[in-house]
Amino acid sequence: MTNTYIYSSDIDVVRLVQVTDPHLFKDESGELLGINTLASFNQVLTEIQASDFAFDLVLATGDLVQDSSDEGYLSFAERINTLNKPVFWIPGNHDFQPKMESFLTEQYGHLCTKKHLLLDNKWQILMLDSQVFGVPHGKLGQYQLDWLADRLKEYPERYSLIVLHHHILSTNSAWLDQHNLRNSEELAQTLAPFSNVKGILHGHIHQQVDATWNGYTLMSTPSTCVQFKPDCNSFTLDTLQPGWREIELHSNGEIVTRVKRIEQASFLPNTQEDGY
Ligand SMILES: [Fe+2]
Repeated sequence: MTNTYIYSSDIDVVRLVQVTDPHLFKDESGELLGINTLASFNQVLTEIQASDFAFDLVLATGDLVQDSSDEGYLSFAERINTLNKPVFWIPGNHDFQPKMESFLTEQYGHLCTKKHLLLDNKWQILMLDSQVFGVPHGKLGQYQLDWLADRLKEYPERYSLIVLHHHILSTNSAWLDQHNLRNSEELAQTLAPFSNVKGILHGHIHQQVDATWNGYTLMSTPSTCVQFKPDCNSFTLDTLQPGWREIELHSNGEIVTRVKRIEQASFLPNTQEDGY
């Protein structure tokens, strides 16, 4: 139980906010493809706080820092703490896990290292590590698949939301799809025996997806910085604004979700860039 967080409340609906792929830098003026990533992350957090969505928990789904810097992780910790709610995180391909473990811990207010969340409205959330160190694509190792199966066996009556960084469905963009989760079929086989798996949530592709995969609700969420344009074989940026996702987990197993994008500011990338 040491890796388990128990969220107790008497509410029927647990509300989550997902932020993903902030790509912060050591230098506060650091830019990714023409966007100051700290400024756009701050704007997302400001608009989350100003919204009327009364969220209980925050999920941060990887690529928190672009350059593996101490300062980037400290900056993420400081800023996300302003939401004043428990925050759970997983690594993306750009993250450096030894620093995540040392900087994103309980000593920084609301940040929590636990990966198994038991919500008392009949749900559990399972947060997976799909990083393959040093390369952009993802894979779930045997430890992750076994851990996932063990938790699903342990709580078969609970509805489950699976959270990882990498994408499963094609984006119809060859340059991006080469960086997908390479063993999605093994994930499918791991989940197949369990009837209460409801949703899969990820980041990584810097674009919104609301789809169904093997009967599960599949959700991808815009980055808090640069957006990638779907259906483009070669690298193409989108001019859509940074965003986040709201998720409601209902006690009858229903997922209600929507993507939000910032409205009080505008961030435009350098569309002349041809890669990153
Ligand atoms: Fe990523």
